[in-house]
Amino acid sequence: MSERTLVLVKPDGVSRGLVGEVISRIERKGLTLAALELRNVERDVAEQHYAEHDGKPFFESLLEFITSGPVVALVVEGPRAIAAFRQLAGGTDPVEKATPGTIRGDFGLEVQFNLVHGSDSVESAEREIKLWFPSL
Ligand code: CMP
Repeated sequence: MSERTLVLVKPDGVSRGLVGEVISRIERKGLTLAALELRNVERDVAEQHYAEHDGKPFFESLLEFITSGPVVALVVEGPRAIAAFRQLAGGTDPVEKATPGTIRGDFGLEVQFNLVHGSDSVESAEREIKLWFPSL
């Protein structure tokens, strides 16, 4: 059964020229793109996207970072797309958790600057796709 997930190439991934690399890995895995947009993130969208982290010590710097430059937002589709993209991304901490061969493991050094976001559950995916692509 096909599933959809919301993927972001964060401002660090865009500014480092890794958009093509990320999309290439998604496509080589066999997943397909249902939507794709380069956009600046309004504070309001950032707050809603990261609502579950409100109150955490890194919340404010996370909002500043995600609104600091353009991101590429994608809706990615395929069987078990949510888990499949999280496998491609690697763990949240690019050094302690993500292994080589993953996007974060290959290109990241710091937890905040971990290059990509992928929805973590069916419920999050639905909520995030509505937020980023209301017309889908
Ligand atoms: P993401 O998968 O987008 O979801 C929440 C984000 O918060 C996470 O990736 C990291 O970029 C960021 N994050 C998580 N933990 C920390 C932390 N300890 N310090 C700074 N940023 C963090």
